[in-house]
Amino acid sequence: MSVHRPLPHDAARGHVTGTARYVDDIPTPAGTLSLAFGLSEIARGRIASLDLTEVRAAPGVVDVFTAADLPRRVNVSPSAHDEPLLAEGEVFYAGQPIFCVVATSHLAARRAARKAAVLYEPEEPILTIEEALAANSRFEDGPRIWSRGDVEARLAAAPRHVEGRIEIGGQEHFYLEGQAALALPQEAGEMVIHASSQHPTEIQHHVAHALGVPMHMVRVEVRRMGGGFGGKESQNAHLAVACALAAQRTGRPCKMRYDRDDDFLITGKRHDFRIDYRAGFDDEGRLLAVDFTHYARCGWSQDLSLPVCDRAMLHADNAYFLPAVRITSHRLKTNTQSATAFRGFGGPQGMLGIERVIDHVAHTLGHDPLEVRRANFYAPMGAPALQTTHYGQTVEDFVLHELVEELAERADYAARRRAIAAWNAESPVLKRGIALTPVKFGISFTLTHLNQAGALVHVYQDGSIAMNHGGTEMGQGLFQKVAQVAAASFGVPLEAVRITATDTAKVPNTSATAASSGSDLNGMAVREACETIKARMARHLAAARQADPESVVFENGEVRVGADRLSFAEAARECYEGRVSLSATGFYATPKISWDRIRGQGRPFYYFAYGAAVSEVVIDTLTGENRLLRVDILHDAGRSLNPAIDLGQVEGGFVQGAGWLMTEELVWDDEGRLRTHAPSTYKIPACSDRPAVFEARLWEKGRNREETIFRSKAVGEPPFMLAISAFMALSDAIAACGAAYPALDAPATPERVLAAVERVRAR
Ligand code: MTE
Ligand code: MOS
Repeated sequence: MSVHRPLPHDAARGHVTGTARYVDDIPTPAGTLSLAFGLSEIARGRIASLDLTEVRAAPGVVDVFTAADLPRRVNVSPSAHDEPLLAEGEVFYAGQPIFCVVATSHLAARRAARKAAVLYEPEEPILTIEEALAANSRFEDGPRIWSRGDVEARLAAAPRHVEGRIEIGGQEHFYLEGQAALALPQEAGEMVIHASSQHPTEIQHHVAHALGVPMHMVRVEVRRMGGGFGGKESQNAHLAVACALAAQRTGRPCKMRYDRDDDFLITGKRHDFRIDYRAGFDDEGRLLAVDFTHYARCGWSQDLSLPVCDRAMLHADNAYFLPAVRITSHRLKTNTQSATAFRGFGGPQGMLGIERVIDHVAHTLGHDPLEVRRANFYAPMGAPALQTTHYGQTVEDFVLHELVEELAERADYAARRRAIAAWNAESPVLKRGIALTPVKFGISFTLTHLNQAGALVHVYQDGSIAMNHGGTEMGQGLFQKVAQVAAASFGVPLEAVRITATDTAKVPNTSATAASSGSDLNGMAVREACETIKARMARHLAAARQADPESVVFENGEVRVGADRLSFAEAARECYEGRVSLSATGFYATPKISWDRIRGQGRPFYYFAYGAAVSEVVIDTLTGENRLLRVDILHDAGRSLNPAIDLGQVEGGFVQGAGWLMTEELVWDDEGRLRTHAPSTYKIPACSDRPAVFEARLWEKGRNREETIFRSKAVGEPPFMLAISAFMALSDAIAACGAAYPALDAPATPERVLAAVERVRAR
């Protein structure tokens, strides 16, 4: 069977040889124009005057437009209609698009865009969490609060306490392929869009609205992205819509791609957070009550901030049963890029909050943090009394007791912990640290209606199969995994299944490929389409041989009907000649889920994905420099559809998470201008940053207790949060320098590590 096999990514060869085609590689028709935006240089103010004379006169310029030049107000917000494509008289962040240049080449458009004479009436920007709180600048009327139990009473009654704060920096997606789109005008006003987007249907919707036409006039195609990581869930709309408008205005194909610096300056990033906490616990470190306050810096427009902040609240427990807990979440509006989806979607920030509490509690008691973690775990799967989360979902599938046991043993955690303590005692300058942290991550979109998917499958008369579904490929291997599902359904070799580009004309009304649910949703939809076709084929083939349709078997590239064995191609041909439809749609909607986000109650998740990691680090206490030495991971991907691809997700997710927590730092100046907008100043992990020993494995015992596609589990986002172990290992190393708690902030750059070392020593 083609599922559960470690096959390479279908485009692996293409990725490394350069033949895999991205939007910017699509051969364009003669006369194609290129676009560039003119950007706001200030973070907040009115545009007093905008003189575009020199822009229009620049070489190669064909068209220039502002919001006022468009026949209708064009908005590209995925949520709240608060994000005009181009500024409407006011600017809200440095980097906001003000006007659009259409020229004969990419460079001509970019050069011309710099020639605008803009006069601003600047206003005082709101840049930080503190400034936003002081100005009560927020989304929603006030903070959202979810709680369980009487937190104040339980805190007061608890024998021991910690309180503190952690600041958590944002993160740039740094997809290798920057944002790009291409619009090809067709006859009678139809528009074809190629977009580097995780959400073709939303692009279709925005383009149709901008052009003033119904959605059926717009077709959006996405073959692949060179990485999305959430950064192309909403953020590609600007480019696609601008190209469509320019194509409508000029009648010519139009293309746009952001240079790396523009991509940094214009598009949203991970939300930076501040989390304040107070916790009460007993002498074993069992948490009795926790009070969290989340402060999220959401940027200037709402975008996806509300569900991101909800997900942070939903992961405030991570793997731990919190008998009494309150989470207060402030969604703050600031004059910075609009923070957006990023792998984990708020989950990582929420989870870091509770992991910090546990680390702090363990330090206070002088216990091994792993013992404190275990003491707080949810009841295991199959336990007589299961526990519920703070939002009322019963944790039915908790496998971390067993998984962590296995990992701790394999990684030799206890012995290494002792060895590190001995080593540190002898080492005055370098200090090592180790930590094991778990992940429990909820799988499903919290907006329940998004948990649906469609598919379209064709069997041709030669037995070849074309497969299409609403999911998009961004390197995560979704297409290959779903193709394996189709091949397994028909019992044919994988080569018989053709993967085709995502296309809104083939499968309509799709959800973004996000929330890690791509293979869960689209795999099921494709299987349903395949089963429909198989049932029709079986009925026809059986009737012709007086056999029972139920007894027809599709296996090993053959169809067995009674005593007959046909090749799949012969069977397809016979069905075609028998006038049997060999094309079908499939549809899937996730069962069992329901969620009331205002009350914070329900079952938002179909199931949980689990994993754990042990990281060991070394720090230099004179410089704060630090390195990851060894990482061991055990991750539960259920019965993996493709263990090679899933392992790639685990390794890649961990490394991306380590970048977030260790090296990637976004710096805005006092005027709100992002100063780190290129790889020269923004440090993503390189090959040389990976740990010398990196042992990631999928959990052999992994099974989904829910009826997901072949009992697999979603794997796209959960491993990202395994990197919290690296951060906690740094905290452990710093703690070896003195008596005080390190209270490390993220990212743990050398400067922050050094400052923490000094704090710890000062006491
Ligand atoms: N892996 C690669 N190589 N590139 C990506 O852009 N995006 C991540 C994850 N893994 C991403 C990736 C994010 S944010 C999500 S939500 C999932 O993949 C989406 O794909 P899936 O639902 O098919 O797992
Ligand atoms: Mo992923 S952040 O859900 O695109």
